[in-house]
Amino acid sequence: MLVIDTPAASGRMYLHGAHVTAWRPAGHEPVLWMSGKSWYETGKPIRGGVPICFPWFGPKAGDASAPAHGFARLKNWTLADVTRNADGAITVTMTLYADDATRAMWPHDFAAMMRVTFGPTLQLELRIDNTGDQPIHFAEVLHTYFAVSDVRQVSVTGLAGAMYHDRLDPTGLKTRGDQPITITGETDRLYIHTESACVLNDPAGHRAITIRKTGSRSTVVWNPWVNKSKAMPDFGDDEWPGMICIETLNAGENAVTLPPAPGTAAQSHTMAATIEVKRL
Ligand code: BG6
Repeated sequence: MLVIDTPAASGRMYLHGAHVTAWRPAGHEPVLWMSGKSWYETGKPIRGGVPICFPWFGPKAGDASAPAHGFARLKNWTLADVTRNADGAITVTMTLYADDATRAMWPHDFAAMMRVTFGPTLQLELRIDNTGDQPIHFAEVLHTYFAVSDVRQVSVTGLAGAMYHDRLDPTGLKTRGDQPITITGETDRLYIHTESACVLNDPAGHRAITIRKTGSRSTVVWNPWVNKSKAMPDFGDDEWPGMICIETLNAGENAVTLPPAPGTAAQSHTMAATIEVKRL
């Protein structure tokens, strides 16, 4: 685990999953939520922070034995670089390459690079290269968990009019009106064809969190509420009011296809999110 501690921000990032578990810009409370029940064990995902899901989202189609949300969050990544930028922010780069274990689950070659900048903003950048000679088709997620005062008192703007798959009622695409999203029960929605920034307004927490993104056409909003929390062993029964996931991703209709590279240059796709906090 890397511990970042600078005048501008503090943070933590694990080699396990290239997983950011903390970011706190100076003058603010911690922005990312972590479960007190998280495992920190080989072969299990960390609960909270920013899990990276790749190369599939949710269960793998046609393979119930494959790990949920892909293998990227279960693998040990390699630390490639740590840089102090001119403004004092710290950029950490980790990489993951296909190996025999990943090919057994997903028979493709790839190179993944996660670059995270811990500063007054948190910048998350995931780049996937197709290093094989066949097209690859994948989903990818920056599965960001945010800490909130009480999820029943927050609202999310930026998704007005966007279509979504309701994973709790998969009867077809839905849309909703212009009203900000509020959470009044278990919520698990995959919004598609949206590149908009979202704002998480938390008046009781005296802050607003803005999530801007590039290279991402889907957004998930998730809170497990009461029963699902109880069903997850690595999630405290009473922790759900303190979190909400607003995920930057490409999945479903927006999953990415990367052709093989001509010659020796790999074809790549980059998805990025920038998170900013303002005091209210
Ligand atoms: C969300 C999904 O992205 O992740 C939910 O939309 C899922 O359906 C949640 O429950 C957490 O997944 P996991 O595998 O980390 O428990």
